Amino acid sequence: MSTTRQLQDAIMKMKQEKDICILAHAYQNHDILEIADYIGDSYGLSEKAAEAPQQTILMCGVRFMAETVKILSPEKKVILSHSDADCPMARQFDAETIKKLKEQYPGYAVVAYINTTTELKSVCDVCVTSASAVKIVRNMKEKDILFIPDCNLGTWVAGQVPEKNLKLVQGGCPIHAGITKEEALAAKEKHPHAQFLVHPECVNGVSEIADYIGSTTGIMDYVKKSTHNEFIIGTENSIVSHLQFGCPDKKFYPLSKKLICHDMKLTTLADVYHCVKGDAGEEIVLSEEMRLAAKKSLDAMLQLG
Ligand code: 13P
Ligand code: SF4
Repeated sequence: MSTTRQLQDAIMKMKQEKDICILAHAYQNHDILEIADYIGDSYGLSEKAAEAPQQTILMCGVRFMAETVKILSPEKKVILSHSDADCPMARQFDAETIKKLKEQYPGYAVVAYINTTTELKSVCDVCVTSASAVKIVRNMKEKDILFIPDCNLGTWVAGQVPEKNLKLVQGGCPIHAGITKEEALAAKEKHPHAQFLVHPECVNGVSEIADYIGSTTGIMDYVKKSTHNEFIIGTENSIVSHLQFGCPDKKFYPLSKKLICHDMKLTTLADVYHCVKGDAGEEIVLSEEMRLAAKKSLDAMLQLG
């Protein structure tokens, strides 16, 4: 039997010997964050994907994140830490539906949340992440925008950029969107001195009573800079645990025990160990035609964001 520490030491040694960069989304478990070269939100991870000097990238996260790395760095070997780790929101639309919507709304630019498949990215004009959506939509030259697939993020962006005309199409994160305003009010009543921080994937009724709305990294940065001592965390519960390590003298309360992304939680430290060893994970393979088509929307995101 191995301890967490022994597995982590073995991973650290092998990744150096094999020139592997480990990227981890902030929703991964803490034992994985401790051995990662870079931890971040979707925007930060896509920037790192293009910059990392290593020849092999192991993405501890969900499929669209690993595909984003492959789209931006085709010469690298990109491994997804668990082949079943997929964001359900990424598949809420297919390319055919978007083509029909484009016919229905001629002249509209199509903005896709980065939580989409490569196929969907290939028929969109620009990608956004929760951290960059407001800035990118504001910087776009088009006024009329079709925003997919997250209506809650889209509603929040529309409120921040009233000069644009956003058409939202039904979709969203089943984990965040499952939390109601009543649950949020109950959490605030239970912790009256806590600041309430939420991810923009939450429904509007929850976001509108928040003290701060932002990406996973945005929430963590806000806490680190804040002079407050108590926080209700309105996003995946791993952020509560990371903040408890990062700021041990502050107190953190999960908005709801339902805020668990099972896809993000599929990868274990032992999976990472086997991926680095070379006998687990899935190598991402994309056709060059699809990759180049999808790359345009990611390039536009990195340029405008
Ligand atoms: P971030 O871009 O904030 O990391 O969000 C990704 C995600 O999947 C949130 O549910
Ligand atoms: Fe997808 Fe929601 Fe999980 Fe984020 S939390 S990866 S949006 S299912």
